[in-house]
Amino acid sequence: MEWHEDLESIAGVPTVALDERAGACVIIDQTLLPNRVVLEHLDTREQLYRAIDRLEVRGAPAIGVAAAIGMYIDAYHWMQELESLAIMSGADADWAFAYEPNVNDLLAHLDETRAYLDSARPTAVNLSWATRRMAELAHRLADEGASARAVVAALRDEANAVIAEDVERCRAIGEHGAPLVAALAAEKDAPVGVLTHCNAGRLCAVEMGTATAPIYTAFEQDVPLRAYCDETRPLLQGARLTALELSQAGVPTTLLCDNMSNSLMGTGAVDLVFVGADRIAANGDTANKIGTSLLALAARAHDVPFYVCAPTSTIDLSCASGEDIAIEQRAASEVTELHYAQRMAPEGIEVYNPAFDVTPAPHIAGIVTEKGIAYPPFEQSLREMVEG
Ligand code: MRU
Repeated sequence: MEWHEDLESIAGVPTVALDERAGACVIIDQTLLPNRVVLEHLDTREQLYRAIDRLEVRGAPAIGVAAAIGMYIDAYHWMQELESLAIMSGADADWAFAYEPNVNDLLAHLDETRAYLDSARPTAVNLSWATRRMAELAHRLADEGASARAVVAALRDEANAVIAEDVERCRAIGEHGAPLVAALAAEKDAPVGVLTHCNAGRLCAVEMGTATAPIYTAFEQDVPLRAYCDETRPLLQGARLTALELSQAGVPTTLLCDNMSNSLMGTGAVDLVFVGADRIAANGDTANKIGTSLLALAARAHDVPFYVCAPTSTIDLSCASGEDIAIEQRAASEVTELHYAQRMAPEGIEVYNPAFDVTPAPHIAGIVTEKGIAYPPFEQSLREMVEG
């Protein structure tokens, strides 16, 4: 059963978490931010799918973590349901607990759940990365003779490992990226201006985020800086989420409309651009929120270094270039109605609404990962990041 809980603020609340006792994935419903902070408890794969599809949980790393938790809770409830059925058919609770379902049935169920969750959104590779990791673990353990119950327990541990790794990866991206900000601060008297797009912040991961991790780390190190957030039409993740989390954390923050970035760069206020990524091809071409490629063009025109910040789980070496990345097309209503609610364009208007675009690698100065910064030529440096 899905249930909700209202909170005062997002401070200290993980974006996505596992409630082991209830067998639930707990998320902050991001469609309600910044007006309400509502925790949503999801305990079926259908609820997980819907939450990912509706962007209640969104951002590449957070989707991956939610999907890993989703694979576990699905297996957990599958097991519980069989135990309840055993009790209902006359067995006592002890017998039901000792009852051992067929591990191959569990694997078949998990494979189905994996395909279902993968179909929720196509562009962020972290989703299929996480479900593959969970499914492969289950298959390997079953091949080694593990029982269904042991596989479910291992999936719980693996979901917790995915959560812990996400936290650690974002922290490491912050450590590797903050010196880029600090180096610019050493060269100027005014605060360093860092522009970001969409939300690659703490709300796109368990904590801290990717593109915002160097901002948070540099800020904690007292590097003078100002964050600039593109509002990010059509769903305003920059305004609703990034501006919220950065300002709540005390980071000096300015919000601007997407069509103002070029003009802002013209004033000299922007020293650096940090964006996240949904999928990075082997050659460095990077899919991220629609508008990112335009920002890269503006950054190039103004000689502002443009960095992508992402965990290595976002690098997809099976895509040779950006042309191999599937770009999600979303509902026209996202463009024609404001915040899913208020209409702001004529009825029946034709709409162009890709959720992402691809920034060509030549526009990218570097890709900040948890293992360090990959520089061009990316074919070589990204492979070393992933495999090294
Ligand atoms: O459609 P969204 O809100 O999931 O898009 C998110 C982005 O494009 C983020 O910038 C991207 O996932 C990187 S998050 C580290």
